[in-house]
Amino acid sequence: MIVSAPGKIILFGEHAVVYGKHALATAIDLRCKVYVERNDEFQIDSSLGKTGIDFKVHPYVSFAIKRFCEINKIKGAKIKIESSIPVASGLGSSAAVAVATLKALSEEFEAGLSDEDIFKIARQVEIDVQGASSGIDPFVSTFGGTWLFPDKKKVELKEKEFFLIKIGERATKEMISKVAEMKKRYPELFEKIIDAIDVITLKAVDGRNLDELIYVNQSLLRALGVSNAEIDSKISELEKIGLKAKITGAGGGGCIFGIFKGFIPAGSFLVRVSEEGVRVEGT
Ligand code: PMV
Repeated sequence: MIVSAPGKIILFGEHAVVYGKHALATAIDLRCKVYVERNDEFQIDSSLGKTGIDFKVHPYVSFAIKRFCEINKIKGAKIKIESSIPVASGLGSSAAVAVATLKALSEEFEAGLSDEDIFKIARQVEIDVQGASSGIDPFVSTFGGTWLFPDKKKVELKEKEFFLIKIGERATKEMISKVAEMKKRYPELFEKIIDAIDVITLKAVDGRNLDELIYVNQSLLRALGVSNAEIDSKISELEKIGLKAKITGAGGGGCIFGIFKGFIPAGSFLVRVSEEGVRVEGT
């Protein structure tokens, strides 16, 4: 059984969403492919290595197997992973591998899990590995398309193509604590910043003036302390050639993105909105 699931980018609202505000995220056409075959024992084969169930080397796949076996006990499976989603970039590679593994196991062993089941178990897998999850990554990876959170409202954007630039490894935990620190020191100011981000996210749903909203959201992320000199200088370089860009995800590294205007800026790659979430590729 071969199943694939997409990665994602957060368009607007990262960090603010941790404090109950809105975020807008979209599935992209970078996918993680998982091959599952029946076997007497578990084998996991990826670019990270060849292991059995191994919570250190393959935490997401191993917890996905563990959670799947709680519902449908199986003896073993050969699992091979091929992913075009760069890891540690905030593009949802971990959620995509969990979602694709769960669906591939369900299809191969005829467990009949619905996409809603797969999303819920993949979210549990994220919690198993990371201790917490907003659920955005597994949701977008399972269902595809563009969504407003926490409402889980489907959104249609006119813009379907974005350029992405990887600045470095992202630092989600560190950036979340940095923002929490800012909240502690300047609570009233902090509230105003995340309220302003919320206004931006809700405006973006209309799909108008996205470039302007990207610019203002990035300025506010900078105010929250999650940008850095390298990100700022890349963004001003892009501004000189008429492009707006912002952090996607936690910041402190990871990726920045902007709307594709017909040419690919140096060092970037193009992604498209993927309307399709997890899907069977073949048997
Ligand atoms: O870079 P990522 O995909 O880990 O993005 C994190 C986004 C945050 O809003 C900072 C955290 C979250 O769980 O939504």
